[in-house]
Amino acid sequence: EKGGYPHFMLKEINEEPAAITATVSPRVENSLPELRIPELTDEKLRSIGTVHLVGCGTAMHAGMVGKTAIEALARVPAEVDIASEFRYRDPILKPEDLVIIISQSGETSDTLAALKLAKSRGVPVLAIVNVVGSSIARAADYVMYTYAGPEIAVASTKAYMVQLCVLYLFALRLAYARGQLTEEKTKYYTAQLLHASEVIKPRLADCEQIKYLASRYVNTQSCFFIGRGFDYALSLEGSLKLKEISYVHSDAYAAGELKHGTISLITDGVPVIALATQKNVYEKTISNAKETRSRGARVLLFTTKDAEVPEGVATEVIRLDEYDDILMPLQLIVPLQLFAYYMAVLRGCDVDKPRNLAKSVTVE
Ligand code: M6R
Repeated sequence: EKGGYPHFMLKEINEEPAAITATVSPRVENSLPELRIPELTDEKLRSIGTVHLVGCGTAMHAGMVGKTAIEALARVPAEVDIASEFRYRDPILKPEDLVIIISQSGETSDTLAALKLAKSRGVPVLAIVNVVGSSIARAADYVMYTYAGPEIAVASTKAYMVQLCVLYLFALRLAYARGQLTEEKTKYYTAQLLHASEVIKPRLADCEQIKYLASRYVNTQSCFFIGRGFDYALSLEGSLKLKEISYVHSDAYAAGELKHGTISLITDGVPVIALATQKNVYEKTISNAKETRSRGARVLLFTTKDAEVPEGVATEVIRLDEYDDILMPLQLIVPLQLFAYYMAVLRGCDVDKPRNLAKSVTVE
């Protein structure tokens, strides 16, 4: 049942290329993204006010990437909410808004309650769900399924990957419908998105390198992930993955926020995992990494192939292939998932069933 892999988590990470193709290719027609929801016409997309992205845990982190993509590509305001906050906050929702509910299982109790709240306010709800016929899929106005196949490991990996894909498809169609992207640009991004299944294959093949890296950090007590923009969204997810399965304390910060408090925790030998894949803020993140290094941190830097890394900034550098900055999260998440996986394996943890956690949280 694990297809020759020692754990479901590793099997599922390796299923990501197939999940991307299954999720994206049926939604591309004439090289343009198609949502395949008759009611969400281009005219309707043009009238959307604010997009609210709501979920828990990893699904909420996918929402963070979605927000950044929707704002960057379509210039539509987007908010991310933790479902358990949203449902009790009396959120401000307008009839022209759209609520996007994100859930792998489709059964998370807080997420379902958030959906019901949005519906009771008369706001249309689009659900991005992996499990066909689940409670969330049934309660939503519109559904875009992710085609990850069954996800068994408690730590979500391939489902997150395809949640990102659906959010990119949505952001691209929204941007196209609203004239924020030309047809040519929309086709370019759509082709790049389809190509993600190929882009990540070398990252999966790099697993021995990531395993070696994990072996050098295996005794870590506590570490920090930093990044800006898309890299901040990925910091949150990389950090969650690591803590939930390897039990290493980990926190994620927007890189510029570090000096507002957290930097006091940076002492000799503390690992800082710096994500610097975005050209527009590259130098800023590098300078934050350098600040931690000068306080003794071990800096593990994830950046792109051609990026110039100044002397003395990083202890280790992991290089990704060049790829469009906006879609880079699809490539970057793979080594972060593998890093968490190997940390957990090397620390002797129960990778697929971490303590205290359930695959689907059906109580609040
Ligand atoms: O099934 P859902 O996507 O609604 O689940 C949401 C979270 O419970 C889930 O993503 C959780 O954070 C995972 N353990 C993360 O790996």
